[in-house]
Amino acid sequence: MNEEREKEEEAVEKRELIKDGKRLDGRGFEELRPIKIEVGVLKRADGSCYFELGENKVIAAVYGPKEMHPRHAQDAKMAVVKFRYNMAPFSVDDRKRPGPDRRSVEVSKVSREAFEPVIMREFYPKAAIEVYVEILQSDAGTRTAGINAASVALADAGIPMKDLVSSVAVGKIDGQVVLDLNGTEDNHGEADMPIAMVARTNTITLLQMDGHLTAEEFGRGLKLAMGACRQIYELQRAALIERFSSSSNSGSKSEKRGE
Ligand code: CDP
Repeated sequence: MNEEREKEEEAVEKRELIKDGKRLDGRGFEELRPIKIEVGVLKRADGSCYFELGENKVIAAVYGPKEMHPRHAQDAKMAVVKFRYNMAPFSVDDRKRPGPDRRSVEVSKVSREAFEPVIMREFYPKAAIEVYVEILQSDAGTRTAGINAASVALADAGIPMKDLVSSVAVGKIDGQVVLDLNGTEDNHGEADMPIAMVARTNTITLLQMDGHLTAEEFGRGLKLAMGACRQIYELQRAALIERFSSSSNSGSKSEKRGE
């Protein structure tokens, strides 16, 4: 265990997630973890994105639109969107048993629903659009990182969308509402509330809550998360613009390091 981690464990034992107005990783209450976005990282997928949010490392790959199999599952009027969120066995502290579990089925469902208002499914009757999110390393907020990555990968695949979806969590630690909880904060905090949003129209497409917030904290947290989604949206856009304006067309990178 490295020194930083030992200090963190010590503070957690003393139930101190906030010290001198800063969080254990040095962030302010309203600060995102560093974000890195790479577009078009996989050769065999129609669209792809690598997304880092602090210690979270996520890959999203998109296939389609293609013919939906089995045929009886086709929708004659629009495309069917399949979304699979999967955690690699080595992505968590204790090895995770490979394959789907209740949590990954739930995360896949809410993530798919987060894209329902934006993907123009009516353009592709009887087709399937497949989205795969693979969590390579996790440190809380993986569903939000997965949605951000999937959004960019869908755009990279050229799937018609009304806009991008951006996602982040807010929560409560040591009685304070804070943005984008890391693993330690999530484990020892009082609440965690991931949201997804269409930033341009302020449309919330996912909202979940684990723990308790007062009505006032909820309102403040939602406002904070919505502001952060707008920041993430700009980074997603920048990464896509870079990808499609670069003549080499061999993938692009976009980064935000913590202020
Ligand atoms: O990742 P996210 O915050 O969207 O989902 P969560 O269910 O609130 O999980 C929080 C964190 O717990 C994950 O990011 C993982 O780091 C960790 N976790 C784990 O260690 N083992 C699992 N089987 C599931 C989650």
